[in-house]
This record gives sequence, structure tokens and C-alpha cells, in this order.
Amino acid sequence: MVSVKGKSLEGLLTEFRRFYPSTEFKKNAHLTSKEEIEKLSKYPEKFWESYASELHWYKKWNKVLDWNPPHSKWFVDGELNVCYNCVDRHIKNGGRNKAAIIWEGEPGDTKTLTYWDLYREVNKFANVLKKLGISKGDRVAIYMPMIPEAVIAMLACARIGAIHMVVFGGFSSEALRDRINDCKAKLLVTADGGYRRGSLIPLKHDSDYAVKDTPSIENVLIIKRGEFPLRVKKGRDFWWHELEEEVEPYCEPESMNSDDSLFILYTSGTTGKPKGVLHSTGGYLTGVYTTSKLIFDMKDQDVFWCTADIGWITGHSYIVYGPLAVGATLFMYEGAPDWPEMDRYWRIIDKYGITIFYTAPTAIRAFMKAGTEYLKPFSLETLRLLGSVGEPINPEAWIWYYTHIGKKRCPIVDTWWQTETGMIMVTTLPGYHTMKPGHAGFPFPGVSLDILNEAGEPVDPDEGGYLVLKSPWPSMLKGIYGDEEKYLEKYWSKWNGKYYFTGDGARRDSEGYLMLLGRVDDVLSIAGHRVGTMEVESALVSHPSVAEAAVVGITHEITGQAIVGFIVLRDNIDKDFDLEDSIREHVVKKIGPIARPRKIIFSSELPKTRSGKIMRRLLKDIAEGKVLGDTTTLTEPEVIDNLKKQYEIIEG
Ligand code: PRX
Repeated sequence: MVSVKGKSLEGLLTEFRRFYPSTEFKKNAHLTSKEEIEKLSKYPEKFWESYASELHWYKKWNKVLDWNPPHSKWFVDGELNVCYNCVDRHIKNGGRNKAAIIWEGEPGDTKTLTYWDLYREVNKFANVLKKLGISKGDRVAIYMPMIPEAVIAMLACARIGAIHMVVFGGFSSEALRDRINDCKAKLLVTADGGYRRGSLIPLKHDSDYAVKDTPSIENVLIIKRGEFPLRVKKGRDFWWHELEEEVEPYCEPESMNSDDSLFILYTSGTTGKPKGVLHSTGGYLTGVYTTSKLIFDMKDQDVFWCTADIGWITGHSYIVYGPLAVGATLFMYEGAPDWPEMDRYWRIIDKYGITIFYTAPTAIRAFMKAGTEYLKPFSLETLRLLGSVGEPINPEAWIWYYTHIGKKRCPIVDTWWQTETGMIMVTTLPGYHTMKPGHAGFPFPGVSLDILNEAGEPVDPDEGGYLVLKSPWPSMLKGIYGDEEKYLEKYWSKWNGKYYFTGDGARRDSEGYLMLLGRVDDVLSIAGHRVGTMEVESALVSHPSVAEAAVVGITHEITGQAIVGFIVLRDNIDKDFDLEDSIREHVVKKIGPIARPRKIIFSSELPKTRSGKIMRRLLKDIAEGKVLGDTTTLTEPEVIDNLKKQYEIIEG
């Protein structure tokens, strides 16, 4: 049902439209009553404890929370195994023949693993890890395409208590190398390759370049996906399909302390170097289990599809750990949404009867742009709930998603969270809340947040401010791997350790709906993925022709933001198109295609304040073609004119 109060449908700052879950949806949803939700929110520790109790523990906790700011320990002294909870528990509870993973490769090949199949594979994988000398606490790097073995490898690590560190398969070998070196991984699990947009991505071949310079790596375990060219280094590299023949079919799960580390996942921050976000075992699992069940309203019959890659937190929490802890059937797809045509996702939804679909605004905007012709042959009738994540979803895209994909029948959950939070923190509850396009909604029960001004005071309704989290939540990051100082500085220093600072701006309206306003720090959001400006700048200045670089994000209609690099060349270097390409490709080599600058603007100088700080705001205005603000603090005001001229040449 839609209600519109006399405003045009598009691009409103004040959103008057309201959408309600259907009676049908409400009737069957897990959470529907105000009293229940209020009760859960009122006693957070009780709430988390009750959901933790639905999981399997070898030893029960003595205390729910030990809060020693800024570190929290959840389910103190409790012991459990994440893999046991995601696999064995369901086998013991009658789920043995249920599909755990339904997978489709980009070329169209397909595979289904029941919970029993998954159990068999994970046990053997865990024994192969052991055979390769991996034990509790060791770090294992995973660099894989979107194939079931990626999930199996993660679960196998969890089974033996090894800490996995997944690197997105689209990252470059240099990015892989740096992450391996930071956490000193002992083993790299990769595949011969994967398919993306019809091309072969030779992951093993690429990772050979990384492993050349990673002294901690002792072995490389290769999964065979297809027929990809590669070299196997004797004594170091092993094929999974060969080793699995040599191991026992059962591996006893390790009883882990609730606060032991489950994984490290690197994410971009304001510095040049990505940070290794460290997550716990018991708290993390409780957080993703509870949110999967209540926000995605997962039921036994559902087929849940989260389109993220396993290399991002969304893949960790809502492909692997949350849905499998619930015992759901998850769907996984290897390739690109537009391959071979823009209809691939809709084809998949009908073919596999997907019921819950979770994707990113960038994808929705790309589909919206392609038009509804691609949708015509598909009924999408199995869908019952939609989700969005990674960046703000603009009302126009929200309405399109609701109308054309959800057929005005499916509620949408716009979920705000971060690598660091591990689980969804802000959303609507699909069987209860009224939805307001462009507004993520409310704090999830048990989450306490606020919006503050610079002085740390709460702002008034409808006023923008900094989004902070006020008290710990179970899947809160444990810290940054090997860098306590950075953890304190990045998240806790702004208001002297009182609040966790998210780095996001937000606004709350008079009805309590939160609207996310994007990052307030130097982190860009490209297609919903975090890219640090400093990270790209470091990559740019490592090009032999570049002397200085500054990077800004500009608004982009599909990807949310796009990267513009301002470059000062070294003396005696001629700027030409070849050079521009070579600089772009250099960034791709250093980080990956995600960080490729959309535009490069050459300048003889960068605008700086008298104290020598690059004026990025000014550069952003130039890149966005806006009227310039105050330039009186500039050392050389004519720098701006030159830059503007350059920009006009490029735009023209
Ligand atoms: O800026 C917010 C944006 O993505 C950031 C977190 O990025 P990452 O750690 O890579 O995790 C992405 C997937 C959880 C946040 O600080 N963000 C995420 N979800 C939303 C969002 N912005 C607005 N609305 C959302 N639903």
C-alpha cells in the first residue's frame, strides 16, 4: 500500500511516502508486536542471551557481557564452535538432507550441497588444513572466486580454530600480499581461477606474484574450478582434490572460547594502509544469527540470496555465518549481474525460487537504468522480502526496487552496518515497521546509538550529525589486528573514549527514522565498497611519473561515488593519454579495479592551506563543477584557475 501526500514521486528531501508490510507478511513474521520489540530493546543483555541460548555451547557462559571500554567480551568463559553451529547442529536436528548451498557458476554450471554434503566437505577440508600444519590461532588467507569451496574453507578454519582472512578475488596480487604480510598468514587457499563477465580470472597465477614476497606463507592449497593455466611449485603448492583423498572423513571441532578470534577482514580507512578488523567467536555468531533470523525473517522454506562477494563483510555475515547458523538454504552465484545479459539475476530468482534477495543500491540503480524490458519474461513470484546494503539507497531506486522487483508485495529492509559492527545495526523490522524510502529505519533491538554534534551533544530531530554507537553489541569488532593504537584513535578518540564513532553522518526525523548521509571522513564509497582516499593517493604517488596526488570522490549516478585523482607530475614528464592510462592501470595493479580513477586531472600544483594541508574540499568542488568557496587561505590562489581550466578541458 502506498500513501503519497501531494508531492511528486521523485527526489524528495522530505519523504512523505509510507509503505506497509502486507497482512500476509505480518501474519507469519518472526517479530510483529510492539510489546515484544520494546521488551527486547529494554533488556539488551537478556535479549542477546536468549538468542545465544538457541546456539550450541560446549560450556555455558558465566556472564553475558564484560565491558571494559573500548573492549567488550561477550558470553564470558562460554565455549562453542562456529562450524559445529553452522553445520553439525542442523544434521543432528533433522536437517541432514536440506539444501545448505545452491550454487550457479557464471557459465551456467550448477551444484547443490545438502547439509550432509557440506558436513563431509568441511570435515575433510579441516583435516587437510591440519595436514598442512595449520592449528588453532594460525592465520589462513583465502583468495577465491564465488564457489562453494570458499564457504567450505572458511568453515573448515572455524572448525579447527584457525583465523581466516579472506581477500576479495577482485583485489590485486599486491593487495593480497600486503594483507598476508600484515597478519602473517601461514597458508593461502586459492583456486586455479574463476569466471567473471565471461573472462577467466587466474587467481592462482596472480597469487604467485603475492606469495613471492610473503615469507610467512608455507603452503598454497589450490581448488580446481576449471581449466586455468597455472604453475604448481613442488613441495609448496597442493591440490585440494588430491589431498582430500588422503585424510580422514571426520575432524573433531575445536572447543573455542567465546572471545577467541574467528576472522580478520581488512577494510579501508583514512590511512594508506587497510586495517585488519578482528572479530570474535561467540558474540559474532550470536549477532549474525539473531539478525539473520529477525531481519531477514528466515524460515525453513526460504532460499536466501545475498549477492555480495565472500570477500566483504556482507558475504561473511549474510552468506556464510548468519544464514548457516539459522540452518537456511543459501544461494550463491559466481559471476556478474549483467552476464551474459542484464536479466541474469531475475533468471536466477525464478529458476531457483529465491524468496529473500539482498543486494546493493549500485546494482539496483544499474538495473533501473537498463529499463524494465529485461524483467518481462520473469514472474519473480517466489520473492517475499528484499534487502539493501552498502550505501544509502535513494528514494527513486527504492521505489523502483519495491515496484518492479518486489511487485509492491515484498517489504524492503534497508540495512545499515559496517565491517566493524559485524552485523546489521539499523533497519526496519519487516513484519512490523512502516517503511520510508531513503530511510534505513531504527536501531535493531539491543543497539544503542545517537547522533551528535562536534561537541558530543545529541542533535535535534532533522538535524545532521555524527552517528555513534553508545554501548557494546555482541558482534562488535575486537580491535584492529596488531594495532591497538589505531583502534583507539580511529573509533574512540573523537569523544574521549565515550562513544564508538562510525565515521558516518546521519539525521533522525521527528518519527525516529534514521537517514544515513554518507561518510564524514576520507573514505569513499565506490559501488558500496570502502576505498580510502589515502590508499589511492599512496598508489598514485608510487607511479614513477607522479610527484604528488590528491584524491576526491564525486557523485556518480550508478556507483554512488567515483574517484577523481589530481596529479602533479615529476619534472620533465609529458602528460598524454598513454600516461593517464598507465597511471590508472598502476592503481588497478596496486589495489584492484575497484579503485581505478574515473578521471585524472593534471596540475602543476595542488591547492594547499598555509599550513600545507591539501584542500580536498576545494578539489571536490572543482571536480563536481561547483562554484568555489573561500580560497583566501590558499598559498597560491592561481593554482585553482589552472585546475579549473584543466577540468574544463577534460569535461569539454
Ligand atoms: O558508510 C556506511 C555504508 O558503508 C559503510 C560500511 O562499509 P563496509 O564496512 O564496507 O560494509 C558495507 C556493508 C555492511 C558504512 O559506514 N553503508 C552500509 N550500509 C548502508 C550504508 N550507508 C547507507 N545506508 C546503508 N544501508
